[in-house]
Amino acid sequence: MIKAAILGTGRCVPKKILTNADLEKMVDTSDEWITTRTGIKERRIVSEGETWSLLATEASRQALEMAQVAPQDLDIIIAATFTSDYRLPAGACLVQQALKAYKATAFDLAGACTGFIYGLSIAEKFIKDNPKLKILVIGAEVLSAVTNWEDRSTCVLFGDGAGAAVVGADEEKGILSVYTGSDPTVWDLLCVPAGGSLYPPFKEGVPKEEYFVKMKGNEVFKYAVRYMEEAARTVLEKAGLEPKDIDWFIPHQANIRIINMVAKRLGIPLEKVIVNIEKYGNTSAATIPIALDEAVREGKIKRGDLILLDAFGGGFTYGAIVLKW
Ligand code: ACO
Repeated sequence: MIKAAILGTGRCVPKKILTNADLEKMVDTSDEWITTRTGIKERRIVSEGETWSLLATEASRQALEMAQVAPQDLDIIIAATFTSDYRLPAGACLVQQALKAYKATAFDLAGACTGFIYGLSIAEKFIKDNPKLKILVIGAEVLSAVTNWEDRSTCVLFGDGAGAAVVGADEEKGILSVYTGSDPTVWDLLCVPAGGSLYPPFKEGVPKEEYFVKMKGNEVFKYAVRYMEEAARTVLEKAGLEPKDIDWFIPHQANIRIINMVAKRLGIPLEKVIVNIEKYGNTSAATIPIALDEAVREGKIKRGDLILLDAFGGGFTYGAIVLKW
């Protein structure tokens, strides 16, 4: 049966490394607190000349090269992000121009940290409808632009980066099942309050910190564990699989304690969990495609492996995908 398969992956992160020691000089924090509470040691931050579209385009070029698909043959470009270069146009259109992928339809998708999973799930539907299509799914963020560098409870968590995947039809490998959901009832636990149409930029009386990510971390933590476990169990059941059948678990990289807790609840041993949070922190929609690309290029993931992708983010949004490599 025809499946939507990932034909190639790519990633690009900024050159500049911001370590926990650097953050100790900026806010009242310590390497010990950040490491034990989050697992993060350093993150990448864009500097002069590095932009969302440059990172996203480089990740996309690598994915296209691995997939052996020419940019001109792309039919759809989906970019999962809430921090692309401009409010308008969509970041996907900027990547389209950089790649000269003029045949494609390009649009952005606002699914926060679950964005890449949402993007893959949309690509899967398109491929099932028309197996000839070639679709580029990007997860990329410049979170440093919406980070309050004076708020120690959030600024230690986030980083910038981009990952991408080219999706097309295959009879052997590909997506076995998809499960996505949203819970908007407590959306204000994680949001950027100002800068949208309700409180536009420069509106009088809006404090500066409202333009940055605000999060009640300890409450978000509980939802993240709950929904990531639920999404993983549901998607595995849909595929007729059990956690023990999985070769590689690639969870959203928000906090090592969330990752370990979800893996433990699912009964997936830590040797099967792909973790790179220590190097990049939380890059939102980019964490899963970056981790996937690293694992593929390091040779960890092999043909025929069963992979579980699992994410949770602002909205709240959540979702999981099981695929055969
Ligand atoms: N350095 C030192 N102390 C700190 C820091 C810091 N960087 N940040 C907070 N603290 C303090 C707090 O002020 C608090 O002090 P108090 O006890 O004197 O009041 C204490 O540390 C504990 O704070 P908590 O918020 O309870 O710490 P917690 O163990 O929950 O860890 C964290 C915080 C890391 C944010 C965690 O809750 C977390 O990872 N949450 C989930 C994040 C997530 O998954 N987000 C979703 C995706 S993100 C997206 O969609 C963009």
